[in-house]
Amino acid sequence: MAAKYTKPRGTQDILPGETWKWDYMEAGIRKVMGRYGYKEIRLPTFENTEVFSRGMGDSSDVVTKEMYTFNDKSGRSVTLRPEGTAGVVRATLENGLLAASPLPVKLFYIQSCFRYEKMQKGRWREFHQAGIECFGTNEPDADVESIQVASALLEEFGVRKDVMLEINSIGCPTCRPAYHKKLNSYLNKHRDELCPTCRNRMETNPLRILDCKEPGCQEVLQDAPVMLDFLCDDCETHFNTVKSLLDAAGTQFRVNPMIVRGLDYYSNTVFEFVAEGVGTQGTVCGGGRYNGLIEELGGQATPAVGFAMGMERLLMALEEHKALPAAPEGPALYAVGIGTGGRAAARWLVNEMRQRGIRAEYDLVNRSVKAQMKAADRLGAKYTVVIGDDEAASGNAMLKNMRTGAEREIQLVNGVEALNEAEIAITIGDIEGSVDDLNKSLLGAIDNLL
Ligand code: HAM
Repeated sequence: MAAKYTKPRGTQDILPGETWKWDYMEAGIRKVMGRYGYKEIRLPTFENTEVFSRGMGDSSDVVTKEMYTFNDKSGRSVTLRPEGTAGVVRATLENGLLAASPLPVKLFYIQSCFRYEKMQKGRWREFHQAGIECFGTNEPDADVESIQVASALLEEFGVRKDVMLEINSIGCPTCRPAYHKKLNSYLNKHRDELCPTCRNRMETNPLRILDCKEPGCQEVLQDAPVMLDFLCDDCETHFNTVKSLLDAAGTQFRVNPMIVRGLDYYSNTVFEFVAEGVGTQGTVCGGGRYNGLIEELGGQATPAVGFAMGMERLLMALEEHKALPAAPEGPALYAVGIGTGGRAAARWLVNEMRQRGIRAEYDLVNRSVKAQMKAADRLGAKYTVVIGDDEAASGNAMLKNMRTGAEREIQLVNGVEALNEAEIAITIGDIEGSVDDLNKSLLGAIDNLL
C-alpha cells in the first residue's frame, strides 16, 4: 500500500541499513580534520537571510533561485543554510573567534544544507557537506593545506585515485575588471549563440558563463579569453606558488581555466575535485580563497580559504568504486529462551554479555523457538544458544555457529549464573577494550570450543 505521506522532493530518508555508512564517513572526516588541526563548529540550520544574500552574492544562482527563504512568525526573513561558509564567517565574527585565537583560525563542519535545485543524479534539495574554513592568512601554504585536507579525506576513504583535482585562479578585484571587459566584449560578439540564462548573466556575472554546460555556450567558450592571462603580478605569483607547493608535495592536479565556482565570494585560487560516475556535475568537493567575505559581513578585512565536500557525492564515489568497508556484523549471540526458566536464563545471559560490551539479543515478543531462530538468522547473529527449562536447570545448553551450523554443548554454571569459566575463558570475565575487541574475544573463544 502506498504511504499516505511521502518525504519532500529532493530529500532522503537515511534508513537503518544505511546509517552505518554515514557514521563511517563522519568518523573518517573527524579523524582527518583532527590530524590537520581543524576544530569542529556547529551552527544553526537557518540564519537571517542577509547572511547568505550578502555573503554569497546576489548574482549567484544559489541566492537568486535556490534558497529556502521564508518569513518567520515575526515577519523576519530567514533562510535554511544553502552552504556553510557564510554562516561560519557570521559565527566567527559574532563570537570574536578571530580576536581570541592565534591565527589562522581553522574550523570544520559536517552539516545538512538546503538548495531548491532541479533534481538530478547526485543533486539533492537537502544534502550534506563536510567543509573547512581557514581564516587569517593569505599565504599560498594555506590554499595548499585546504587542498590537502580534501585530498587526505579522499585518501582516507580510498578514492583519491578516482578523483581529479582541478585548480584555477580567478584573480582579485584589481585584475578582474579588465578581464571582465575583455570577456564581455568577446561574448557580446557571440551574444546570439548563448543560451538565454547566459545572456542574462552577461549583465550580472559574466564569469559564470564559463561554467555553462549548454552545447551552444560551450562552443562559444572554446576561444574565449581566460582569467589566467589577465592576472596581476600578485595574483600570478600567488597562483604560481600554489602550483609549485602542490608539485613539491607530489599532489597531482590539472589547471582548468574554466573553473569559476558558483558563489560570488571567491578570489585567487579556486579548486574542485571531480569524480567519474557521480552525475552530470561530478564535483565531489569545491572550494577556494575568499579574501573579501569577512569584510563584506562586517569584519575587518581578513583573508580566508576553505572547501566543502558533498557527502552524498562522496558516498556515491565510495559505492561506485566499492570502497566502503563491510556492513557491521550482527549480534555475537542470540539467546533463544523456551519456557519461563529458559527465557529467564536467556534474558540473564544476554544482560550479562551486554554489560560487558558484547552485542547480544534475545526475544522480546514471546515467539516460538522456530521464530526466534529465524529472528537470530535475520539479525545475522554469529551464535545462538538454546535454553529451555531443562537447560536452565541442568546448566548445559547447545551453542550453534550460525554460519557453519556446527553445534556443541556448553555449560551454564549454576544453571543460569555464568557460562562455565573453565570452558569458555572469555566467558563473562574481565575483558577490557572496545566493543569490537570484546566481540572478537568472545567469538574467538567460542570458535575454539567448536
Ligand atoms: P559548492 O561548490 O556550492 O561550494 O558546494 C560544495 C559541494 O557541495 C559541491 O562540490 C557538491 O559536492 C556539494 N553540493 C552542492 N550542492 C549540492 C546538491 N544540491 N546536492 C548534493 N550535493 C551538493 C560551497 O558550498 C562552498 N561553501 C565551499 C567552500 C567552503 N568554499 C570555501 N569554503
